[in-house]
Amino acid sequence: TALAPGSGPLAGKHILVTAGPTHEPIDPVRYIANRSSGKQGFEIASALVDLGARVTLVAGPVALPTPPRVNRIDVETAREMAAAVEAALPADAAVMVAAVADWRSADTSDQKIKKRGAAPSLTLAENPDILATLAQNARRPQLLIGFAAETERVVEHATAKRTRKGADWIVANDVSGDVMGGDANTVHLVTASGVESWERLPKPDVARRLAQRIADAL
Ligand code: CTP
Ligand code: CA
Repeated sequence: TALAPGSGPLAGKHILVTAGPTHEPIDPVRYIANRSSGKQGFEIASALVDLGARVTLVAGPVALPTPPRVNRIDVETAREMAAAVEAALPADAAVMVAAVADWRSADTSDQKIKKRGAAPSLTLAENPDILATLAQNARRPQLLIGFAAETERVVEHATAKRTRKGADWIVANDVSGDVMGGDANTVHLVTASGVESWERLPKPDVARRLAQRIADAL
């Protein structure tokens, strides 16, 4: 149930959420991307608003409507997402749900690359790590939450990621099944005090539970 604006446990709090994939151009008609529908991130933005937060949602290219009362900023690339996150500070908490492309094409062509001769090779450059950069920012949000999509050794990888990236919590998402684009998630909440495994839940329920945990923590 939605509360009136300005009320609820997260009233007066500004929370930043990233969601969706990023698209990294190769030429005007081609790009590098990854499988992310944006559903989980949009649900989290919505659940935070329902608890009274002011939410800035930095969204990569997705086919989803903007949740009511969410301030949405659309971006295409990882570098645009990094700039939009920086511009949205300060925030009390940040939930980095986006599936950011780890690499972009090192050079982009202004014209469509034509199919002639040998297949072209693609040289990749590493994208900025938005979460790790935010962890080092002088205006680092008090509560910094990352997501980790893993196909194996889910908790082990997520636990290492929490330390490596300087996040407070990592929501480890087991994507060994049909999660990408699906309607449910199996997640483990990794914090400094340990690991909490949640039962497989519809994405809106994962969002509501996480939003409540954020409200408890702030
Ligand atoms: N992330 C980010 N910027 C990037 C890559 C990832 O902000 N360039 C964030 C994601 O939004 C997520 C967290 O970091 O919250 C973990 O992303 P993930 O891809 O699982 O981590 P990586 O460090 O990129 O490791 P991997 O090699 O498993 O892809
Ligand atoms: Ca990655």
